[in-house]
Amino acid sequence: MNLESTPQGVVAGSIPLFAGHPASDLLPIDGLGRVIRSAWREGSVARFLNYGDEQGNSQLIDFLVERLNCHEDLGINRENLMIIGGSTWGVDMVAQRLTVPGDAVLVDAPSYRDALHIFRDHQLELRAAPIDGEGIIPAGLERTLRDLASRGKKPRFYYVVPNFQNPSGITMTRERRLAVIELSREYGFAIVEDDVYSELRYEGASSASFFALAGGDQVIRLGTFSKTLAPGLRIGWLIASAERIAGFVESGLLRMGGGANPFSAAVVADFCRSGEWEAHVQWLRGQYRRRRDFALAALQTSMPAAVEWTRPAGGYFIWLRLPAAVHVDDLEASAQRQGLYFASGKGFYADPADGAHHLRLSFSFVPMPDMQAGIEILGDLIARMAG
Ligand SMILES: Cc1ncc(COP(=O)(O)O)c(C=O)c1O
Repeated sequence: MNLESTPQGVVAGSIPLFAGHPASDLLPIDGLGRVIRSAWREGSVARFLNYGDEQGNSQLIDFLVERLNCHEDLGINRENLMIIGGSTWGVDMVAQRLTVPGDAVLVDAPSYRDALHIFRDHQLELRAAPIDGEGIIPAGLERTLRDLASRGKKPRFYYVVPNFQNPSGITMTRERRLAVIELSREYGFAIVEDDVYSELRYEGASSASFFALAGGDQVIRLGTFSKTLAPGLRIGWLIASAERIAGFVESGLLRMGGGANPFSAAVVADFCRSGEWEAHVQWLRGQYRRRRDFALAALQTSMPAAVEWTRPAGGYFIWLRLPAAVHVDDLEASAQRQGLYFASGKGFYADPADGAHHLRLSFSFVPMPDMQAGIEILGDLIARMAG
């Protein structure tokens, strides 16, 4: 491997257990190549090499509306969905359109590091409430809301990754979702549901989404093809009320840029409409389930007794709690000296100090022998440091 061929942030020759990327051998390279070559032959490509509609590729919109209605009975129509350049684009757009600097937003503790980064870019006040194995704890969220209200402040929205959360792998239960919806009605904030991983469920049944449970103006839901197709395509979608979609579509970014990534969107639309995406997702579930089971077994064998970890029912991530004597900064420095990279817990908290004894491992990217070697190194280091 040379540096040019490694994905974002991956050091050549290392064991990148931090990387929340799909493994290169899980990308449907041949299928995507076929779709692109066929568009080229048919000449339809010229249309997609030009600027596109502000709301996005209409065939992809129709495909997604039909699929979501069929799978989840959402009852949405094309006015409720727009194509975006990946979920990250949606998080940034929502922050830009719904907030002004100094506004408060609610997040989980821990929450997705790059969303926190975006909220900091927009100079928002991050207010976090803790999660447990069922998602955010409503009493903690309510305490935060009362505290904000006592300062005359109302949060603009609650940002949540409801399924197989990044970083913890935890899925919020239906009861917790309903409790959050109650609070959002009482305190008047929106819910931004970043639903990146729901297609990658390896066991159990899914809970209805926030959008399905509350819908309307209250919820903005984001989806992406990054985890089930290829992140380099930069294609996702946003579902919301027709009024909100109309407002988002009116942005200067989309007007001037001709919609989100028209060429990629056309490729994704063809891939989906041919049935290949559905088959690929089905196959991916088996592949990732194997990797998850392998990582969990390696942890069981290699970790000292004082380490705890989550057992995700889907997604990419396992979240570790370190013994009190082991600080994640020390562990990270020692691990990197041995070529092992994990995601420090500190990045996932509004107050980084809260993550001093946590770390995130990803089982999506690294081949299994490297995963095994990396987890062994980690176990040895923790055992040594914990004394
Ligand atoms: C919760 C969450 N949101 C968004 C993203 C990024 O998605 P996209 O590639 O669609 O921008 C990720 C990727 O790791 C994620 O875990």
